[in-house]
Amino acid sequence: MSRKVTAIAHRGASSYAPENTFAAFDLAVDMGIEEIELDVQFTSDSHIIVIHDDTLDRTTDSSGEVSALILEEIQLLDAGTWFDERFSGEKIPTLDQVFDRYKDDFRFHIEIKLKKSKGLVSRVFDLIRKYGLAEQTTITSFWKQWLIESRRYAPEIPTGWLVPMGDESKWDDSIIEEALQEGFTQLCPRANLVSASLVRSLHDNGFNVRCWGVYDEELMIKVAESGADAMTLNFPDKLKKYLVN
Ligand code: G3P
Ligand code: CA
Repeated sequence: MSRKVTAIAHRGASSYAPENTFAAFDLAVDMGIEEIELDVQFTSDSHIIVIHDDTLDRTTDSSGEVSALILEEIQLLDAGTWFDERFSGEKIPTLDQVFDRYKDDFRFHIEIKLKKSKGLVSRVFDLIRKYGLAEQTTITSFWKQWLIESRRYAPEIPTGWLVPMGDESKWDDSIIEEALQEGFTQLCPRANLVSASLVRSLHDNGFNVRCWGVYDEELMIKVAESGADAMTLNFPDKLKKYLVN
């Protein structure tokens, strides 16, 4: 069994606080978690904000496309009450604010969320450089083109490919070939597809292995026992507890 698997707080400690907010990231700090995952998108005036969905409906008190609003409008929204009244007034942070607040606390796994995000990767790198975070950042995406761009722009920064796309899709070994060809650092298989033999094969091909889609403790244990290097999960405290027992 792997006892070294790293817990990455998925959108922060998002089982207990509204995802992708300071509240969820603060909680991860309090839990002693050292790595977080977050999703980035552009506002209509090209600021980088931390939000998962392409609409505001699920995680704010507003609705409509994220990309339709300027930053000033985005920052007026309540991104906490949907989760619990206790978090009322929580804001959608910018990536700049997250880096500024947590640069000494975390390694950052930044997901380029949308297929249409022209110019976002290079702008993320501008911020990584502004804060000197090149050694504590990984760029991830389901969309291969952003990782290819990332490699071109900053080959020193690790790239993690989230695979396969979609909740039902199956593993296909051509993923390994494609990732090797592009020089990606990390492969991120969906948790319910992972096995010790898949992890071995990915390690043998030189990839770091980090799983996503860890929706419950059963999957968490499956990933931990597979020998994977890391996993994103909404309840990183439970993985910490599991690993010390
Ligand atoms: O850890 C990767 C994971 O965040 C990808 O899925 O939908 O939660 O962004 P999603
Ligand atoms: Ca994500």
